[in-house]
Order: sequence, then structure tokens, then C-alpha cells
Amino acid sequence: MKKVECIIRPDVLEDVKAELNKLKIHGMTVSQVFGCGHQKGKKEIYRGAEIEISLLPKVKIEIVTEDGSVENIVDAVTKVARTGNVGDGKIFIYDIQDAIRIRTGERGEKAI
Ligand SMILES: Nc1ncnc2c1ncn2[C@@H]1O[C@H](COP(=O)(O)OP(=O)(O)OP(=O)(O)O)[C@@H](O)[C@H]1O
Ligand SMILES: [Mg+2]
Repeated sequence: MKKVECIIRPDVLEDVKAELNKLKIHGMTVSQVFGCGHQKGKKEIYRGAEIEISLLPKVKIEIVTEDGSVENIVDAVTKVARTGNVGDGKIFIYDIQDAIRIRTGERGEKAI
């Protein structure tokens, strides 16, 4: 199992969710976060205006999935989250050791 962690612009969240739904991805965790990338302290376009701040609001989506779905998720998120401008975001992929569905005690892929 892997965790796919996508940090995206807040305004593409609905489109990303729609793409993930097409892939039959159901379980996810979504958080509002602040972050910066390479342009830290430099100007970035936010909501149409050029502003100079070091932390910008982003959305983090975490999906734990079987290994075979990772590339489909990466493709789907990239397709809708890419504007071509700086700040489009990033995807990090982690190994997941185990998962437990609390209600039933199921483990591993059965629990995701
Ligand atoms: N190395 C990193 N570690 C953790 N989070 C990061 C890292 N790089 C980017 N992020 C997160 O991703 C968000 C978007 O990053 P961003 O797309 O600006 O990356 P970048 O490397 O500056 O690429 P670009 O040049 O396309 O802007 C950041 O606001 C931050 O939340
Ligand atoms: Mg950047």
C-alpha cells in the first residue's frame, strides 16, 4: 500500500475530487494547509493578484491505496491541478506499513 499526498491549489479541489471519484477512490483525508515551495518570499499569483507572502493557502489530499492505483491517481490529479503557473503543487508518495478498519479489525488492503 502507498499513501499519495497531493498538495494543490484550493480552487481545483472540486475538480480533483471529481476525477478521483471516476477512479472509484472513496477514502481520503482533506486538510486546509499553508505552504511554500521554491518561490518562498517571492511573488506568486493568488486569486488573480500578485502578492508577496511566504506561506500560501493550499489543500492537502491524502489517499491510502493499493500500489497499482498510484499512477492513475498521479495522472488524474496532475491533469486537473496543472495550470502551468508556479504554485500548482506537489505530490508525495509514501510506503504504508498497515491499515486497520476500526469497526471490524480488518487489516491491510481489506481495510482501505
Ligand atoms: N519540499 C517540499 N516539502 C513539503 N511541502 C512542499 C515542498 N515543496 C512544496 N511543498 C508544498 O506544496 C505547495 C506548492 O508548492 P509549489 O507548487 O509552489 O512547489 P515549487 O517547488 O515551488 O514548484 P513551482 O516552481 O511550480 O511553484 C507548497 O505551498 C507546500 O505546501
Ligand atoms: Mg512554487
